[in-house]
Amino acid sequence: MDSAVHNENGRLPMSTSAQIGVTGLAVMGRNLARNFARNGYAVAVHNRTASRTRALLEEFGDEGEFIGAETAADFVAALERPRRLVIMVKAGDPTDAVIEEFAPLLEDGDVIIDGGNAHFADTRRRERDLRERGIHFVGTGISGGEEGALHGPSIMPGGSAESYASLGPMLEKISAKAADGAPCVTHVGPDGAGHFVKMVHNGIEYADMQLIAEAYQLLRDVAGYSPAQIAEVFRTWNTGRLDSYLIEITAEVLSHVDAATGKPFVDVVADQAEQKGTGRWTVQLALELGVPVSGIAEAVFARSLSGHTALREASRGLAGPTAQPLSGAAADAFADQVEQALYASKIVSYTQGFHEIAAGSAEYDWNIDLGAVAAIWRGGCIIRAAFLDRIRAAYDARPDLPSLLADETFATEIAEAQHDWRAVLGAATSQGVPTPGFAAALAYYDSLRADRLPAALTQGQRDYFGAHTYRRTDREGSFHTLWSEDRSEVQV
Ligand SMILES: NC(=O)c1ccc[n+]([C@@H]2O[C@H](COP(=O)([O-])OP(=O)(O)OC[C@H]3O[C@@H](n4cnc5c(N)ncnc54)[C@H](OP(=O)(O)O)[C@@H]3O)[C@@H](O)[C@H]2O)c1
Repeated sequence: MDSAVHNENGRLPMSTSAQIGVTGLAVMGRNLARNFARNGYAVAVHNRTASRTRALLEEFGDEGEFIGAETAADFVAALERPRRLVIMVKAGDPTDAVIEEFAPLLEDGDVIIDGGNAHFADTRRRERDLRERGIHFVGTGISGGEEGALHGPSIMPGGSAESYASLGPMLEKISAKAADGAPCVTHVGPDGAGHFVKMVHNGIEYADMQLIAEAYQLLRDVAGYSPAQIAEVFRTWNTGRLDSYLIEITAEVLSHVDAATGKPFVDVVADQAEQKGTGRWTVQLALELGVPVSGIAEAVFARSLSGHTALREASRGLAGPTAQPLSGAAADAFADQVEQALYASKIVSYTQGFHEIAAGSAEYDWNIDLGAVAAIWRGGCIIRAAFLDRIRAAYDARPDLPSLLADETFATEIAEAQHDWRAVLGAATSQGVPTPGFAAALAYYDSLRADRLPAALTQGQRDYFGAHTYRRTDREGSFHTLWSEDRSEVQV
């Protein structure tokens, strides 16, 4: 019995004419399939539960050329060769299950694209296993949520150059376009490179959101503004160097009024945030790679702390100042300082995120072009921002830039912002407003520019209790002081 579902165009599933297939038709997969179809590609569609496939064809079948399939065999048979098959299912075991369902039906040179939020180590494993079976595996980060999937996401594919040659033009067509018209997709690098970059994208997203949240809290508690006033401040900021999707939606959220109570929406939402996979992975990997991503880590921890309701309840009465809101011109001047602090802290977050990508690239031999990564984040993704054009320019001018802070333009901007940055943190500290993101960013900046760090003392302590040895500033070699004897020094 032919179990395939036909669309209005009467395409037969066995006609081997779909240029691409999408399996997994929940919100992301369905919209991605529609995006391909709207861009003129014939798309085979499949889902474990066939009702989703039928629903897609019924609701959106007239948007382009779809070939519905209810069985894996029909789905694979509907694809032209080399087959390009996108998996958009729940990350983890479901992805492995789907790969195992389809791989035996594929042939040499076919391409499986995993568009889910996979951990890059899983992607490396899957790529290796499938390569041995003659199948290309393209672990692909996709950012932009359901709207992005439909209208144009930022796409971060990893995998072989050969698979990108066949897939790249299609991804370029469905991707978001930056303001200069460039598609927001690039071949990031081999095996897990795409999912690694997507992971760090999400880590930076966490940091961006935390910094924006702290700016809001400062404008509320120290400047004394209402949510509606703060929404206006963010709208103004969105016309300047902070112009970004996250600032834009922040203004929308802050100006929203709860219909049930008439109160600002932000005042009726429980102040407990979720911290799921990718932000946490970014920090875990940074620890393994030895990369200080303190701003991203603080963002993950801030969400985690917000969810510790019992701990917060038990601590609510602890001593500390209560913020005394400013007013008039003083409040407005403080708001300008917060913009400076937010911008400087944002530069640090991106500095840390790009450091992690560079470290991952070196560790796994990915040869990632950092400027190209900045370029594909300019549109479609959650952290899209005018600012990314400048990061791209910094890496294009100097691909071996050791840190974004070493770029002259960013260094000059921070030099100009730093007085206000410090003033804002001074006010936050003296008024008891928690600003872990701003503080971590400034501490990172001051640590990097320090002539001497107290790590020398740390090394002394380690040598004292554990004979861990130390290096000297004036001579080569490793040394140990005989602390419990005569405190003479020996070279080891
Ligand atoms: N939502 C976003 O904004 C977003 C953004 C970027 C990336 N992603 C990633 O994109 C992927 C898809 O996300 P989503 O939100 O659309 O869907 P989802 O809720 O993560 O997953 C639902 C889909 O997975 C399928 N599935 C689950 N277990 C399966 C199994 N064992 N075998 C076969 N199919 C299985 C479901 O099929 P049934 O219908 O049969 O249950 C359904 O099609 C995920 O990896 C997600 O992390 C999501």
